[in-house]
Amino acid sequence: MAAPHRASPAQLLPFLAPLVALLFLAAATTTATAAADGGGYAGNGNGAMTHLHFYFHEIYTAGPNGTAAAVASPPAGASGSAFGFGYVGVVDDMLREGADPASRLIGRAQGLTAGASLSEGAITTLLNFVFTDGPYNGSTLAMFGRAVLGSVMERPIVGGTGAFRMARGYTQSRMVKSADPENLLVLEYDAYVLH
Ligand SMILES: *[C@@H]1O[C@H](CO)[C@@H](O)[C@H](O)[C@H]1NC(C)=O
Ligand SMILES: *[C@@H]1O[C@H](CO)[C@@H](O)[C@H](O)[C@H]1NC(C)=O
Repeated sequence: MAAPHRASPAQLLPFLAPLVALLFLAAATTTATAAADGGGYAGNGNGAMTHLHFYFHEIYTAGPNGTAAAVASPPAGASGSAFGFGYVGVVDDMLREGADPASRLIGRAQGLTAGASLSEGAITTLLNFVFTDGPYNGSTLAMFGRAVLGSVMERPIVGGTGAFRMARGYTQSRMVKSADPENLLVLEYDAYVLH
């Protein structure tokens, strides 16, 4: 995985938005099945733990193929503006099987990102992972969490639809080498989902 560039938090904002969005999909594999359903609490499902591994692709530059839109910039001179506090963006990023931009598209990461820290480049993200191919075509996962561009970002999965009804779990994501670093942010995602 590539080391993140050293940049000011403000410079990192466009990247952070995508990062947050990253999530899951890609080649999904069910890695384990736990004990039989004992009729436990809602959300525990049948005890199945699904591991999804996929790559998040964001074209963060403006243009015909851009997948991220800045809605609001941090107010100039406002408290925390050096850290992007107040930034709001919307993304419709790509979920692919691999880090290669030509690899199979398996879904989208759609949602919101916001600069939400007065003291560091931390963002709050609300993303829906919408799967459009493979075994989870038509199902979605909802991720809500905080991210700081760094080695590994961990965010909670708070729900889902279709095959992922009543889902809960978490994702871990990290920036990896991009084929086009001036335009494309690539994050590798692992998602662990109980459903
Ligand atoms: C947008 O994507 C299309 C299809 O992949 C490609 O042919 C075109 O060159 C891209 N345009 C830009 C500005 O990147
Ligand atoms: C995904 O599901 C939709 C709706 O059922 C269907 O139209 C589409 O062909 C499916 N895509 C793939 C790649 O299976």
